[in-house]
Amino acid sequence: MIIGVPKEIKNNENRVALTPAGVSEMKKHGHTVYVQATAGLGSGFGDDEYANAGAVVLGTIEEVYAIAEMIIKVKEPIASEYPLIKKDQLLFTYFHFASSEPLTHAMLEKGAVCLAYETVEKTDRSLPLLVPMSEVAGRMAIQQGAKYLEKPLKGRGILLGGVPGVPPAKVLVLGGGIVGTQAAKMAAGLGAQVTIMDLSLPRLRYLDDIMPANVNTEMSNHYNITKAIATADLIVGAVLIPGAKAPHLITRDMLKLMRPGTVVVDVAVDQGGCIETCTPTTHENPTFIIDDIVHYCVANMPGAVPYTSTLALTNATLPYAVQLANKGWEKACNENKELKKGLNIANGKILYKGVAEAWNLPFNEEIVLANA
Ligand SMILES: NC(=O)c1ccc[n+]([C@@H]2O[C@H](COP(=O)([O-])OP(=O)(O)OC[C@H]3O[C@@H](n4cnc5c(N)ncnc54)[C@H](O)[C@@H]3O)[C@@H](O)[C@H]2O)c1
Repeated sequence: MIIGVPKEIKNNENRVALTPAGVSEMKKHGHTVYVQATAGLGSGFGDDEYANAGAVVLGTIEEVYAIAEMIIKVKEPIASEYPLIKKDQLLFTYFHFASSEPLTHAMLEKGAVCLAYETVEKTDRSLPLLVPMSEVAGRMAIQQGAKYLEKPLKGRGILLGGVPGVPPAKVLVLGGGIVGTQAAKMAAGLGAQVTIMDLSLPRLRYLDDIMPANVNTEMSNHYNITKAIATADLIVGAVLIPGAKAPHLITRDMLKLMRPGTVVVDVAVDQGGCIETCTPTTHENPTFIIDDIVHYCVANMPGAVPYTSTLALTNATLPYAVQLANKGWEKACNENKELKKGLNIANGKILYKGVAEAWNLPFNEEIVLANA
């Protein structure tokens, strides 16, 4: 198959969808890979590395879209890319159709085949192409939290691990899923006193088993949260209710219970945030202060570490991309139910219920896959 890797043009997106190692893997399977010049630079991969791995480097994005049967990307195409997309071209990338009606209509009109990273789903209902970014964000939450706890950045001026003779900081993690687990692990590793709260007792049991001794687990409820925020130095918001807005576990009036300089890192801000006062911020201007509480609410945290994020993402996407390239999308989706869940749009039809519902458009439940 002919594979195209365009340079990401969405504002501040430095990730790339295929690394030189990925190119080499595709070549091994007999595919041809075209990479747009400088596509990997933001993640630390030069054009020479791609060429040495066997890719053909093309000068413009137009050339890449024109030649490729399958486009592998990171972010959804933006409006200037719509005219470049061809009928029946396979696009494998994050789409998040339910948050963009124009994108949904554009892909339907183009007749593109849209396989969305975010809805590829395993039989245990986990989302293998979202997990790596949650892992990055969870670990980063502690790195950022530790930084903003410093006095010059308006924090309480406390070192997460303390020092001999001085107690460590207290870290409260709300939600013990992927983000919360990675955050707790990092905070514990730095020597902080960590509490993870979750609603799921089986999850708390599991965390209690695997976490080190400086991590406690507690049931998530209003009483426990109110008590814990009064002494926490750093609070990480990491709850997720699939398909719904995050619940506001810390409301505006609860800020006054917290000590000045407490830092909240609301990773769940992309789902509305679990701290009421959190609104999305950017890497250029990541924090704001309300009632002396430092709020860090960057909606795309992995964007700050594109080298790590690109490798983490492509480790997860490459095995699926190879299947798509080897078999074509219809056979690959027919043989792999995880991939089939990723089909959002094909042949001008919506194949994913959530997208159809979001825009009140017809949903095609029965996908007829040729070559099946
Ligand atoms: N800001 C970013 O850059 C960024 C990056 C990656 C992920 N995220 C977001 O982080 C959030 C968490 O993602 P995840 O992958 O860890 O999800 P996850 O499904 O693995 O974990 C969510 C956890 O929240 C728990 N939970 C639900 N309601 C709760 C409540 N009331 N109290 C305590 N716990 C509760 C669930 O039991 C689950 O264990 C999501 O909103 C995700 O979109 C943000």
